[in-house]
Amino acid sequence: MALPNAVDSSQELLNAQSHVWNLTFSFINSMCLKSALQLGIPDAIHKHNNPITLSELADALSITKSKSHALFRLMRVLVHSKIFDKVKTGEEEEAYVLTGTSRLLLRDEPLSFSPFTLSMVDPVVVDTFHHVTEWFRDESSPTPFFLKNGATAWEFAEKDRNWNQLFNGGMASDARFLGGVLVEKCKHVFEGLKTVVDVAGGTGAVAKAVSDAFPGLKCVVLDLPHVVAGLQGSENLRFVSGDMFHSIPPADAVILKWILHDWSDEDCIKILKNCKEAIVASKENGGKVIIVDMVVDFEKQEEKAVETQLFFDVLMMVGLTGKERTEKEWAKLFHDSGFQNYKITPILGLRSVIELFP
Ligand SMILES: C[S@@+](CC[C@H](N)C(=O)[O-])C[C@H]1O[C@@H](n2cnc3c(N)ncnc32)[C@H](O)[C@@H]1O
Repeated sequence: MALPNAVDSSQELLNAQSHVWNLTFSFINSMCLKSALQLGIPDAIHKHNNPITLSELADALSITKSKSHALFRLMRVLVHSKIFDKVKTGEEEEAYVLTGTSRLLLRDEPLSFSPFTLSMVDPVVVDTFHHVTEWFRDESSPTPFFLKNGATAWEFAEKDRNWNQLFNGGMASDARFLGGVLVEKCKHVFEGLKTVVDVAGGTGAVAKAVSDAFPGLKCVVLDLPHVVAGLQGSENLRFVSGDMFHSIPPADAVILKWILHDWSDEDCIKILKNCKEAIVASKENGGKVIIVDMVVDFEKQEEKAVETQLFFDVLMMVGLTGKERTEKEWAKLFHDSGFQNYKITPILGLRSVIELFP
């Protein structure tokens, strides 16, 4: 077989092969992380209070004795991907410790990110990627998810109780994490507001962080019936079931956290126009939309950040009809929805707070 011209030396050929192998098997990182979470490895190391040896870890996880060496090999990958670290405990002995990343994955940590990760590596998400090629040749399905399931992601969640719980739990874990950071780092965004509605606010974790931090602020969480059914509010937090494409309760400000990246430009304009109507009477009390989403820059960010943003963008394309947007794309969306001004505060890691003014 003739080699492509670009690969003109055997070293380049071997490097290219190694690169292809690495890309081919990258999913193994995600799947090893999934096993670690399902086995409870971060929690077992945490409970041990000291660096944990392989045999202590095997005992703590109650895995079959014959799988000890398999556990060693799983841990070797996880150490390599910096989920865990290893320390020397004697001449020969080594033991595992948590890293900053695995601390974020402890089950009982209030800010655990584990439910989000487990929802995203579930077959409901992963299997959808097997339909991407077919979708490229398909005229009628809006997304590979629709092609596979015959329903949008939201219709699917309404019908499948387990997925609904897993997805909402995953979102809530991100919202708890982000809500805390938001009210700590972006207090000024909420100052002076008397009422706020978290549109498509899931099970209310961001609204809870906001209502706890600003007890004088009345918060409403609007989401679909299968998400908010049976949820209990508090004195200054209320759940409302509804459809953001139909109407949004009036408020001084609207929060849209991780919503607009789910939707096409056309749908975002409909949502933003409804938000504008909801805040129109409140100009002197705030009158703004508070968006939490990525503002991507595939040229300027460092390599890992770009890769993560690209992953999110494709995830939005495969599961939903959305995308990640550059500042220029955001600005066009805001203009087309009739807003006058916006301010981006990029202090939430890969995501930003965008305040949008009518
Ligand atoms: C990606 S989740 C984000 C949830 C929450 N904002 C968060 O970040 O944790 C998107 C949410 O949009 C909700 N949603 C989808 N379509 C909706 C609609 N037409 N009206 C209201 N909520 C909707 C979903 O039920 C889901 O809770």
